[in-house]
Amino acid sequence: MPDERAVYPPAPAVQARAFVPSMADYEATYRRSVEDSDAFWAEQAGRLDWVTPFETVQDWSFEPGDVHIKWYEGGVLNACYNAVDRHVEAGRGGRTAFLFEPDTPGDGDRTITYSDVHAEVQRLANVLRDRGVGRGDRVTIYLPMIPEAAYAMLACARIGAIFSVVFAGFSPSALASRIEDCDSDFVITADEGRRAGRRIALKANVDAALRGCPGVRHVLVVRHTGGDVAWTEGRDVWLDEARETAAAACPCEPMGAEDPLFVLYTSGSTGTPKGVVHTTGGYCVWTSLTHELTFDYHAVEGGAAGDVFWCTADVGWITGHSYIVFGPMINGATQVFFEGTPTYPDAGRFWEVVEKHRVTQFYTAPTAIRALMAKGDEPVMRSDRSSLKVLGTVGEPINPEAWRWYHEVVGEGRCSVVDTWWQTETGGHMLTPLPGATPEKPGSATRPFFGVVPEVLSPDGERLDGEAEGLLVIARSWPGQARTVYRNHDRFVNTYFTAFPGRYFTGDGCRRDADGDYWITGRVDDVLNVSGHRMGTAEVESALVLHEAVAEAAVVGVPHDIKGQGIYVYVTLVEGADATDALRDELRRHVRATIGPIATPDFVQFAPGLPKTRSGKIMRRILRKIGENAPDQLGDTSTLADPDVVASLVQNRRNQP
Ligand code: WTA
Repeated sequence: MPDERAVYPPAPAVQARAFVPSMADYEATYRRSVEDSDAFWAEQAGRLDWVTPFETVQDWSFEPGDVHIKWYEGGVLNACYNAVDRHVEAGRGGRTAFLFEPDTPGDGDRTITYSDVHAEVQRLANVLRDRGVGRGDRVTIYLPMIPEAAYAMLACARIGAIFSVVFAGFSPSALASRIEDCDSDFVITADEGRRAGRRIALKANVDAALRGCPGVRHVLVVRHTGGDVAWTEGRDVWLDEARETAAAACPCEPMGAEDPLFVLYTSGSTGTPKGVVHTTGGYCVWTSLTHELTFDYHAVEGGAAGDVFWCTADVGWITGHSYIVFGPMINGATQVFFEGTPTYPDAGRFWEVVEKHRVTQFYTAPTAIRALMAKGDEPVMRSDRSSLKVLGTVGEPINPEAWRWYHEVVGEGRCSVVDTWWQTETGGHMLTPLPGATPEKPGSATRPFFGVVPEVLSPDGERLDGEAEGLLVIARSWPGQARTVYRNHDRFVNTYFTAFPGRYFTGDGCRRDADGDYWITGRVDDVLNVSGHRMGTAEVESALVLHEAVAEAAVVGVPHDIKGQGIYVYVTLVEGADATDALRDELRRHVRATIGPIATPDFVQFAPGLPKTRSGKIMRRILRKIGENAPDQLGDTSTLADPDVVASLVQNRRNQP
């Protein structure tokens, strides 16, 4: 159990200049944000530039028969205008937007200003427009962490096209299913990506994916490494060539506040990944406000040096959408834009970049912190980290030991640490300390952000007050909330609003302590969290049963020192297939090829049978305990159709791949 008595006050240097400098301030503003919600959120909308002001602040219902979520209706704006143009128009075009740090140090680093972004985004937007892309069309983006990824997202937003970014680590078949689901006919990719000195064949992956997607008209290709690619005449277009003939100026499309901005696929407990839809007005308000307050981000004012923000996430995930492209850019932030990985060329990379660019706010995942902690303190100590003020984490629960290492070794004990709990569906931070106000506890996401009303429920839906442990739900809407699942509103309603009518169900368990601080205990559904990446057990199982040797598969998460959770796979083979180590390797490679490297199973156990109830339901609770090596905690096995399978599974548990 984490020690709840360990409380760390906010860092004095952060508090001294903070937007929210005390708990009294936090509490007063929080109260206003929920008690006078319309006024609070009307005021916050003033962060953005609107073409036409909105008429209604909020109109939503979480009741199952009538789930709808609308913010700032009647308002007209453009997300790209707010993230780029308005800074240029206000004479701040010379400000640095991105400090690009390439995969290999020194191999192409450069500084990109807001004016540069403005010019590139307009060209790219015209390249799309010239090829018939317009309002409401879907564009799939499959790019590595290069500035063009941000330009592509912003260019789509500029012309009103709905973008769907697919993480460049996903396989061709995962890419194909995401292209198909949202029916996009335009793909933006690069010749190759770079990762830890290696090259990733992105264009080749797209070619493979498109064999199953005949509807794609064009593939726009960024020349990044100069590597060889296959070419389909008429379909494929080099960006560097197309931009030469594109006009320099592209006006911003006026969009409704509730027009979709993007679709982002995320895993749930059942079925294929869902296309979560975020819209324009509320999402921009939410990401901009949370970025500013959670990180206490101060842009350049009056000639003083502004903060340098660095979020290490990939733009393929929601964290990159909200805390690289939209929140920070709407706030006119200067950011490190990082193509690399935490341990290449060595475990000192992050801190060298922090020193080089005098980074003030640093935001990463617990899995990276644990991986670096395992390499010892020396690679951290080599670099000067005195510029750091706020250290953030996201994506999975952070164990108190990693939290303390982050605070003490990386932050030299003088930075605030913000453990931010949120989800693809929430658009931005939901539970988080504010770095100039909230007393921090290692392992706790502490308090709700403004406007967020969390509740802890018992499994049968009873609200638990005070100190309690149970299921985390949110009782009212907030501007950054996802509005629907793309073209499948029923799935949206069923997934989030049916278990507890009138509440948004997060899928997470949590505990609220006596001080009112929240501790996320992890997913309560069949969603895994591997190195901060969400993955449905059902997706891995479907990949496994595609293999000819597999009759049946069950997948569970098991604790993993670095990744948080590892993937433990049980497979029953078809008659005649041999249970060999070679087959085990082949199955791991098969899942990797079907979904992507992040889904590679850690352990594969051949099982003569799986524990099932008499009605045929696989009892995952038992499989989880076996995988965790806790055979004494199997609980009641008397309802099993064949209790003998359990003994055999326990006996053959794997502790190696
Ligand atoms: C988990 C990532 C504990 C949680 C932004 C959630 C966390 C899922 C935290 C969403 C945190 C995220 N502490 N758990 N600070 N942040 N999670 O959609 O289980 O990729 O439901 O969004 O990650 O993952 P997603």
